[in-house]
Amino acid sequence: MKVVRAAKAGFCFGVKRALEMAERTSETSHAVSLGPLIHNQQVVKRLAEKGIQVVDDLKEVTNQQALIIRSHGVAPSVYQGAENIGVQVVDATCPFVQKAQRLAAMSAQEGQQVIVMGDKLHPEVQGILGWAGDKAVPIQTVEEAKELPFYPHLAVLAQTTQLAENFAKIVEELQKHTDDLIVHNTICNATAERQKVASELAEVVDVMVVVGGRNSANTRKLASICAERTKTYLIETADELETVWFEEAEIAGLTAGASTPDWIIEEVYKKMTEMNEQQMDMASWLDSCPE
Ligand code: F3S
Repeated sequence: MKVVRAAKAGFCFGVKRALEMAERTSETSHAVSLGPLIHNQQVVKRLAEKGIQVVDDLKEVTNQQALIIRSHGVAPSVYQGAENIGVQVVDATCPFVQKAQRLAAMSAQEGQQVIVMGDKLHPEVQGILGWAGDKAVPIQTVEEAKELPFYPHLAVLAQTTQLAENFAKIVEELQKHTDDLIVHNTICNATAERQKVASELAEVVDVMVVVGGRNSANTRKLASICAERTKTYLIETADELETVWFEEAEIAGLTAGASTPDWIIEEVYKKMTEMNEQQMDMASWLDSCPE
């Protein structure tokens, strides 16, 4: 069995940058992050070992600490809250998310009704909504878009990890709800690129392994894209791999969600390759057995 790694997999630029900023901060200050920096338990554990603490609320932060804003970004009220308690802010908001926040704020100031396409419970969407003021509306589906009234001026943007084809469908529907629609395509290429590469790989392999947090939306999305094309397993660490998955496979593919660090991908790759060698050894042993 051959193991092929997806050409683009694992940490995106924004997550890598946020982790580096957090680690640098922890060398000189008592760093805390508002929510886990990343949806990956193994990484969160490593960060905790480096002294980076996770808090759920600004009320838990003191002015002796450095507050890391994660790549998802936050609403302006959080910066204001941090300033009120005099805490140092290390802003690791991904620049692509910052762009979406700026566009949301600008559109709201210009009097457009802002629509944000994405998961309304996701912190990135909640942050962007905060930048657009109190009138912004989150929607996820075309059905929700259909429910919207007619607006004189509309601006739509997307959570960075949304699928381009779903965004296009929403835009098409919104055109029926205004005569003045401004479309800000804020979808980040990193996600689309990883999904495209994973889908192409899944087409040609016998089995796919997707590595990443089970609570990571982009990892689950990658797994579902692959599962439409071939037998697919989602795992968090190399320990979960099972030899039986690869028994009939000639080629196995490997990809990983945007919150999966290189060291975990490497461990999985190594274990898949070792399993393969064991399988080959067993096959040659069986070959050598008298009938
Ligand atoms: Fe940024 Fe795109 Fe990653 S928006 S956090 S580089 S998925």
